Amino acid sequence: MVVDKQKKSSAGRIQVFDTKEEIIYTFRNEKKEVPMEYYQTLSFDFAKGKVMSAPAFCQDIDAIHEIEVAVEKEHAANIETLRERLRMFPEGFYVVRQDLKILGYVESCLWNSENFSTFTEIKDFSEHHNPQGRILYVIYMAVAEGHRRKGYGSHLIERLKEYAEEKGLDKVQLVAGPGFLTGFYKKLGFKVVRKLPNFHAGFTGTLMEYKIKKCKMCKEESYLDR
Ligand SMILES: CC(C)(COP(=O)(O)OP(=O)(O)OC[C@H]1O[C@@H](n2cnc3c(N)ncnc32)[C@H](O)[C@@H]1OP(=O)(O)O)[C@@H](O)C(=O)NCCC(=O)NCCS
Repeated sequence: MVVDKQKKSSAGRIQVFDTKEEIIYTFRNEKKEVPMEYYQTLSFDFAKGKVMSAPAFCQDIDAIHEIEVAVEKEHAANIETLRERLRMFPEGFYVVRQDLKILGYVESCLWNSENFSTFTEIKDFSEHHNPQGRILYVIYMAVAEGHRRKGYGSHLIERLKEYAEEKGLDKVQLVAGPGFLTGFYKKLGFKVVRKLPNFHAGFTGTLMEYKIKKCKMCKEESYLDR
């Protein structure tokens, strides 16, 4: 595996970095940010030059924004929007990092939407996000130029799939942009649902989804529940 996963079960300080409750607490707290020295200790202690994926942290937003601007130019989300998305659903916002350097990221939300056709309809993700939603929607993903084709993008999507599986959600859904992207997501098990002409900035998007397989045991349980 190219990217090492940070283990939730590890003892001590790593738990502060990786525990979802802590990240949510950070945002609910007026202070909003974890002190920088804490952040550096945590990153260096646990990464030690290795490339790894982990939940995003508020201090990562500037670096994430830089990657986003390099790709999306004038269509890039601004820093406040990215912060808002992290605050909204930190469990679905991951980065690939090497110590303090951010190499890529993926952001997502939960909802039950199936019938949208343009980005304008959905772009206020914090309004549409529904913690009880059955669909995990991938808002955006990018890997910094110079670090692509190393498996990081695939790894980020696999992390979201794992999250959706753990939570027993129905599917992971996204709109693929033009070019190789439909093929990229097909390789990761996604199927095309339909084309979305003029989805965003004049391009046709492809709505795709990865259905979460429900285990036989879970089906039996729900049968017994009836
Ligand atoms: C899409 C993106 C995140 C992929 O990240 P990545 O880390 O390079 O992806 P991976 O290394 O996991 O690629 C996996 C496979 O996807 C395909 N793929 C990836 N980039 C490709 C490219 N530029 N051209 C053709 N196929 C490509 C290949 O099959 C690749 O496997 P291979 O390298 O063994 O041939 C990255 O290209 C990116 O940041 N693009 C700009 C932003 C963007 O388009 N985001 C998606 C919005 S829907």
